[in-house]
Amino acid sequence: MNSSKTISGFSKLTKSEKLDWIEQHFFDGDVKMSETLKQYWHYDNAMQDVLDGFSENTISNFPMPYGVAPNFMINGKHYLVPMVIEESSVVAAASAAAKFWLSRGGFKTEVIGTKKIGQLHFKFTGGNLLLKKLFPQIEIYLRKGTESLTKNMRNRGGGIESLQLIDFTSEEEYYYQIRGEFETCDSMGANFINSILEKFGELLKTFILNHDEVAAEYKDVQIIMAILSNYTPDCMIRASVSCKIEELGMFAGGIDAKEFADKFATAVKIAHIDPYRATTHNKGIYNGVDSVVLATGNDFRAIESCGHAYASKDGRYKSLSSCEIKDGKFKFWIDLPLAVGTVGGLTKLHPMAKISLQMLGNPSAEELMGIITSVGLAQNFAALRSLITTGIQQGHMKMHLQNILIHMDATPEQKVNADKYFEDKTVSFSAVRAFLERPVVNS
Ligand code: MEV
Repeated sequence: MNSSKTISGFSKLTKSEKLDWIEQHFFDGDVKMSETLKQYWHYDNAMQDVLDGFSENTISNFPMPYGVAPNFMINGKHYLVPMVIEESSVVAAASAAAKFWLSRGGFKTEVIGTKKIGQLHFKFTGGNLLLKKLFPQIEIYLRKGTESLTKNMRNRGGGIESLQLIDFTSEEEYYYQIRGEFETCDSMGANFINSILEKFGELLKTFILNHDEVAAEYKDVQIIMAILSNYTPDCMIRASVSCKIEELGMFAGGIDAKEFADKFATAVKIAHIDPYRATTHNKGIYNGVDSVVLATGNDFRAIESCGHAYASKDGRYKSLSSCEIKDGKFKFWIDLPLAVGTVGGLTKLHPMAKISLQMLGNPSAEELMGIITSVGLAQNFAALRSLITTGIQQGHMKMHLQNILIHMDATPEQKVNADKYFEDKTVSFSAVRAFLERPVVNS
């Protein structure tokens, strides 16, 4: 190991000291790196302090495009949806799908459940019969012992819903779990649930220690860990679109509504059959989902891991969306487990998340679930529509061309000319460079 590239106490350095150290040890003293990173510091120191407070060892900010998709109609209400995403075509695709469904009744959503899950994992050597017998008393003790922690949430209509003892001793000696269901109202609830679970751990130890029916040699409960589960299949929302087949209209390449509907349904079915396709199919859904999740200050890693676990619930990774053609109707829907919040966490602390929520009319968590899921469905619809008609490269390459032109410092005139020139040609870095470098012929 090169010791000059290691350090203790890095976190204690000021931001400038951190940059100096990085410059010396990783950029051969080149000041350009620090200068570039400093360009992205927020001009308002107080705002920069807020951003720095979200993470550790921050040396700069990482800008991402913040776009909006207009024309979303969800449950009869119009939305302008904020999206944070670095991939081209995603916002354009969401907007196009929103417009397509705007004139066909829009998106409908239905909350199927809002329960979150938390787990206390522990080992108890005194036997499952005794533990099962004591569990009703344990449950009362845990609920009572956490009343001060749950009070505010109970006042808002939430709190601990159910507690269940699960015996895993057949898979791991002495291992049990208390699985709790929680209602966390408009908050995502991670801190609430984790605080309760950690308290449960202390309370369980005390209960067992002091209970007469537990013999002295079994009194030492070992708490393994206390943490929420990001798998929330009971925090679930359905978003759907539907119309008569003929209302779908005509598509690129002269594809009529009937052929489109059949091809579309087959494309969705393929994503139910084949995990390789399902992964890409669901990735397209999360292009939409994650971008709204990020824009509203929610945790996209939690939401993705939950969605992918749910997509595998039948033992094979499958599409999260479904399509049905019945009685002359085209119906396309998605069931998504989605634990989001509109209060707490970053939602009000991050100025951009706050604006996003304002843009959406300060929705409740349930309403936000519906918006995010509709954007995921819109994204999936747009991707499949392109795939089964023109292919996606046509749209992608247009955006790609613009990115290459920016990268090559093309003038506005060169950009317009390149757009025209590449209409019927393949876009690549070398082709664009050759186009820009070709001699200009004055007529
Ligand atoms: C690209 O980011 C997403 C797609 O690949 C999704 C899909 O294939 O369904 C276009």
